[in-house]
Amino acid sequence: MDKRKLGRIMLTEEEVQKKVEELAQAINQDYPDGEVVVVGILKGCFVFVADLVRKLKADVRVHFMQVSSYGDGTESTGEIIIKKDLDIDIAGKHVILAEDIIDSGNTLSKLVPLLKSRNPASVKVCALLSKPSRRQVEFEADYTGFEIPDEFIVGYGLDCAEAYRQLPYIAVVAEEE
Ligand code: PRP
Repeated sequence: MDKRKLGRIMLTEEEVQKKVEELAQAINQDYPDGEVVVVGILKGCFVFVADLVRKLKADVRVHFMQVSSYGDGTESTGEIIIKKDLDIDIAGKHVILAEDIIDSGNTLSKLVPLLKSRNPASVKVCALLSKPSRRQVEFEADYTGFEIPDEFIVGYGLDCAEAYRQLPYIAVVAEEE
């Protein structure tokens, strides 16, 4: 299959960076110091996490999980599979889950209760992007960057068949000819 072509830019590098700064400021107000465990949900989060944590003032620890949903790739069943779990104990810790995008809401609506069952001091969610029109389950992040329409987007960690994750901006994938 040929690599899908890029369409218009939805969010420029400057717009993304300004938003990451705003999200970091909001987190810094809530967690000015003390230890905070940032948990990125791979793989899409990796660029966002790298930019976000460099703007945080707390005593940050960075960890990752990898999760996928059951289903045929287009329709999720709502169940998730933990492909990579945390390798630390989060009991008593302040956890911030960092996601590139919330789509159906399935991943986080399963993951947040799972992490809460491990007795952390708190769990909050920071998502750069959210597509509210795609929700199958109600879920709202504590910190949300952009609410966007339901378009196929890539860049800043998001992929199309693993391509385009490295783009510093977020672009719409062009319609197939
Ligand atoms: C994306 C995204 C979230 C999840 C959100 O990951 O990074 O983890 O989907 O979708 P949901 O709200 O419908 O659960 P994806 O499965 O595309 O994997 P990737 O991050 O490795 O690209």
